[in-house]
Parts: sequence; C-alpha cells; structure tokens
Amino acid sequence: MAAKPVVLLVGITGMMGDKIASAILDKGKMDLIAIVRPNSSNNASKQQRLDEFKARGVVIVEGDLLDKPSLFKACEGVEAIVSAANASANDKIMVEGQTNLIEAAEAKGVKRMIPSDYSVDYRKLDWGDNYNLDLRQKVFNILEQSNLSYTLILNGCFTEILFSPYLQVFDFEAGTFNYWGDGETVFDTTTTDDTAKYVAEAIADPEMANAALEIAGDVISMKQTLATYQQVTGKKLNVKHLGSVADLESWIEQKKTDRFVSQ
Ligand SMILES: NC(=O)c1ccc[n+]([C@@H]2O[C@H](COP(=O)([O-])OP(=O)(O)OC[C@H]3O[C@@H](n4cnc5c(N)ncnc54)[C@H](OP(=O)(O)O)[C@@H]3O)[C@@H](O)[C@H]2O)c1
Repeated sequence: MAAKPVVLLVGITGMMGDKIASAILDKGKMDLIAIVRPNSSNNASKQQRLDEFKARGVVIVEGDLLDKPSLFKACEGVEAIVSAANASANDKIMVEGQTNLIEAAEAKGVKRMIPSDYSVDYRKLDWGDNYNLDLRQKVFNILEQSNLSYTLILNGCFTEILFSPYLQVFDFEAGTFNYWGDGETVFDTTTTDDTAKYVAEAIADPEMANAALEIAGDVISMKQTLATYQQVTGKKLNVKHLGSVADLESWIEQKKTDRFVSQ
C-alpha cells in the first residue's frame, strides 16, 4: 500500500491545533507530524492530550518556530504544513516564526502551507485597519512569493468567540449586551469544529492549492445574535448602545495610546 502524504502541524497543544489534528486523523487520508515546544509537554493536561494523539499515530517532534534548525529537521519528508500557531502578545512568533517555517519548508521541498489565519478576509482591508490582520497579510505576502503553494482558511469570527469576554459584547455577569454602531451589519461566523473539518478537507484537496477557502457557518448581525440567544435561553439581557462606529474608532485609538504610554 502506498504511504500516505505527511502533514506537519504547528500548534497541536493549542485550541485550534487540537481540533485540526483530530479532524485530519478522522479523515484518515494523511499522516500527521506535530511540532511541540520542549516546555509544552511540562504541562500535565497538554502531555495527556499529546499521549492520546501519539496513540492515534501522530509523531511528535520537538521544535519551535524561533528555532530554525528544528524546523528544517521537522520538514523532512513533509508534503504540506498546517500552522495553528498563536502568540497574540508576540508578533515575532507569528511573523518571524512562520517566515522561518516557510524558509525551512521551501528548502525541504514541502508543497503547500496553510498559515495561521482562521480569520476574516484580510486581503480586502487597507494596511493599518487592523493590527492583527496586518500580521496575517505580512505572512501571506511572504508565502505568496515563496515556492510553496498556499491555502487560506477564511472563516470570519469563530462562533464561540461571539459570546466570550474577549469580544466584550455579551457580558453575562453584568447581564448586558453591549454594541457599537447600529448592530445590524452582518458578518461571517463559523464554529471552531466546522473550521477544523474544513482545514482537514482543504489540505487533502489538490484543487485548494493557491486558493482561499472562504467559509461561513452563518452570516448574522449582532442584534440577530442577541435575538437568537434570548430566544434559545429564554433569558433577557439589558441592551447597552456604546456609541457610533466613529465613537468606536476613537475608543480604539485611545486604547492604542493608553497601551503605548503604559509600555
Ligand atoms: N477568527 C476568530 O474568531 C479567532 C479566534 C481565536 C483564534 N483565532 C486564530 O486561530 C489561530 C490559532 O489560535 P488558538 O486560539 O488555537 O491558539 P492557542 O490556543 O493559543 O494555541 C497556540 C499554539 O501555538 C503554539 N506556539 C506558540 N508559540 C510557538 C512557537 N514559538 N513555536 C511553536 N509553537 C508555538 C502553542 O504552543 P505551546 O503549547 O508551547 O504554547 C500552541 O500550541 C490563530 O491564528 C488565532 O489568531 C481566530
């Protein structure tokens, strides 16, 4: 029987990496190698999860996006790479780290890479519109100029994030729903599980080379999200209008200044 093509995954100890690894294994079309940072396995729950993956046939290799030799070693014999790295407080890892990975992958003849996007379509934005999305654009520019082909996974906002404190819209402790603008602009949202399944499909599909997979489990506004939440749970939240879109932009600029001053 012919050997299966090998996928190298970065970020298996993270939220998305774990789901992507499971989805690739469930699909059964590709073998999986995962780069894990040496210190990662000191964490008992991460180690337990790694043991479960090993039992399903995943080969774990020590590596770090900032340690180039480890990447050259890990890319040996690899067909495609999926990055689910994240380091929100460390741009170096996202840009320099993923650039190191692209360099190693090119040298070792890897054919394709999915960079760590899982986001809205940043290619449509102006530079400076959104700092996090600029980082993705930087990596994409480098990937596009490399010998690798790419597949972008553009899923909008993760559905779970809509209700998390990170987004600051649903505040379940205070019992409020907080929104800017008219709350009626629709946006794309996809669950993390569905996104992971799409990643597993896309990486095994030759037609997805040099393509962006634009997916949306739902297209919904914030007010529709609130209405659905209230209908499903029977709970009512106090609605707080925080201001116009222009007010939001001023608020963001103020936050940036505060952060700069406090550094
Ligand atoms: N669209 C959305 O709404 C949305 C929401 C959340 C996340 N995302 C995106 O989804 C992607 C994955 O995020 P996540 O939340 O799954 O991340 P996460 O849970 O924080 O996991 C990050 C992973 O990256 C690994 N990592 C960090 N630095 C590394 C390095 N130097 N070398 C190798 N591995 C390294 C971590 O390993 P350790 O175990 O060693 O730390 C971990 O496995 C990111 O691009 C993120 O921005 C999108």
